[in-house]
Amino acid sequence: MKRLLNKQIVLGVTGGVAAYKSADLARRLREAGAEVRVVMTENAKQFITPLTMQAVSGNPVHDDLFDLKAEAAMGHIELGRWADVILIAPASADCMARLVRGEANDLLTTLCLVTHAPIALAPAMNQSMWKHTATQENVQALQAKGVSILGPGEGSQACGDIGLGRMLEPAELVDHVAALFKPGCLDGKKIIITAGPTHEAIDAVRFITNASSGKMGYALAEAAIEAGAEVILISGPVNILAPTHVEKVAVITAQDMFKEVMSRVENCDLFLSVAAVSDYRSKTIATHKIAKIAFTEVLELERNPDIVASVAQLKNRPFIVGFAAETDNLEVKAKAKLVNKKLDMIVANEVSVGMRGDENAVTVFWSDQQREFLKKSKRKLARELIKMIGDVMTANAFTKGEMDAK
Ligand SMILES: Cc1cc2nc3c(=O)[nH]c(=O)nc-3n(C[C@H](O)[C@H](O)[C@H](O)COP(=O)(O)O)c2cc1C
Repeated sequence: MKRLLNKQIVLGVTGGVAAYKSADLARRLREAGAEVRVVMTENAKQFITPLTMQAVSGNPVHDDLFDLKAEAAMGHIELGRWADVILIAPASADCMARLVRGEANDLLTTLCLVTHAPIALAPAMNQSMWKHTATQENVQALQAKGVSILGPGEGSQACGDIGLGRMLEPAELVDHVAALFKPGCLDGKKIIITAGPTHEAIDAVRFITNASSGKMGYALAEAAIEAGAEVILISGPVNILAPTHVEKVAVITAQDMFKEVMSRVENCDLFLSVAAVSDYRSKTIATHKIAKIAFTEVLELERNPDIVASVAQLKNRPFIVGFAAETDNLEVKAKAKLVNKKLDMIVANEVSVGMRGDENAVTVFWSDQQREFLKKSKRKLARELIKMIGDVMTANAFTKGEMDAK
């Protein structure tokens, strides 16, 4: 359920018996990767405690429009803007009526007027209340305003009646809410990303490495996860945490990285070669510390495998994006790498702009096209790059499909 990953959900709880299911719903939304902030009406607190909702949502519960402390921390306007979706479950008949009239007499209804996010309601009530003309007219009015009505389901009710009016089960509601979001541009795709530098040992204390921080590769891993991909991040030694939901494989040397990539890459849709892999390694690794005086006599280098070029040789190759950091002749060198290594796309940046820091500016080359991305945070840039890569992959698949059909 990747569509809910990092989504910000306001879960409204109103005064109905089904409120006991809201705790399970909050837990499931979080399991799907969403951040949940619960807003309770005064009457909802008769059915489930704010303490329970706070514990399961992992955030303070919002229950008062006129709360000085809450307004100072995250005010009602901010909370309305924060939400990617407002889900009210259970939605009482009373709450629906107030929403139809555009009332703003408590925090939840006020938020619904503030927000630009989609609103979804999971009605839950006695079957006679649900069937009542007033409720049915309210449902229609809400739908006409663009509010999604999820359910209700049919069956036996807390009051002993049987009929329509049960709140949908939490698992069903999670699926419905996920469906409100468009699939990401890499939905269901399998991706391998390499990131960071490699360390090539020379002796007991020294190694060959470079200035790669891994930040660009890790930002791309996060953006790819948000876009719905399954991501394996094969990383050299770095000092940053892997994004959640990524499968991280830690490696030290170029040979380790080569082995880990080649054993996994054949089933992949996309390979992003972001790591700064050492071209050379020491022919021998001394177990002791080599004396200063003997260093130049002892040090002999040999080539490391070219990981991205090896992936490009595979019969079942994924879409391959290489990265090139250069100090001069950026365009010429990047285009040469694109052609010589048989890549599908190359992302090029000046070393002085992108290495180590939190920002980067790049130019992307593919086929006979190019696109420039101005300097911005690596996180933002990563999202834009992933969107572009997804679009080009889709266009390629479409063209290939057309060719195959001929
Ligand atoms: C025991 C009990 C159970 C109730 N269950 C529901 C219910 O399931 N659905 C509903 O719409 N109203 C139910 N009500 C009525 C609402 O609690 C009442 O309309 C209240 O004003 C709703 O307030 P709210 O919309 O601000 O949360 C119930 C009331 C009681 C006393």
